Amino acid sequence: MAYIVNDKCIKCKHLDCVEVCPVDCFYEGENMLVINPDECIDCDVCVPECPVDAILSDLDPAAEEWLAFNRKYSTEMMWPNITENGDPDPEHEKYHPDNFPDGKMDLFSEKLEELIKGEPLSTS
Ligand code: SF4
Ligand code: F3S
Repeated sequence: MAYIVNDKCIKCKHLDCVEVCPVDCFYEGENMLVINPDECIDCDVCVPECPVDAILSDLDPAAEEWLAFNRKYSTEMMWPNITENGDPDPEHEKYHPDNFPDGKMDLFSEKLEELIKGEPLSTS
């Protein structure tokens, strides 16, 4: 069992979840985080920290499609580890999940946050 982040995090990115994780298993993309489900110890302390309820147990039927997604971006796609809290996305109110009844995957970015902060990215 593990916990995962779903698309409610996209362009909300409140970051309150990362500093409570005892095993530092959150990973950061440009506009959302994921959890490495193989590192997560199922403590569930991050769940109440997320103001948009983006963190689910993989036992939740709604989490099924997200387990492989979280594993992919935290391992294969090598998103960087994140352990410190920070400011939420400045547009998080606009992108609250309640405003997106069909989800937010069309807003998802695969880009690496550390590249966004550092050297300019190509647009490819
Ligand atoms: Fe970290 Fe615990 Fe949340 Fe897993 S459930 S991501 S170990 S805080
Ligand atoms: Fe995302 Fe919620 Fe954490 S919006 S960054 S999962 S606190």
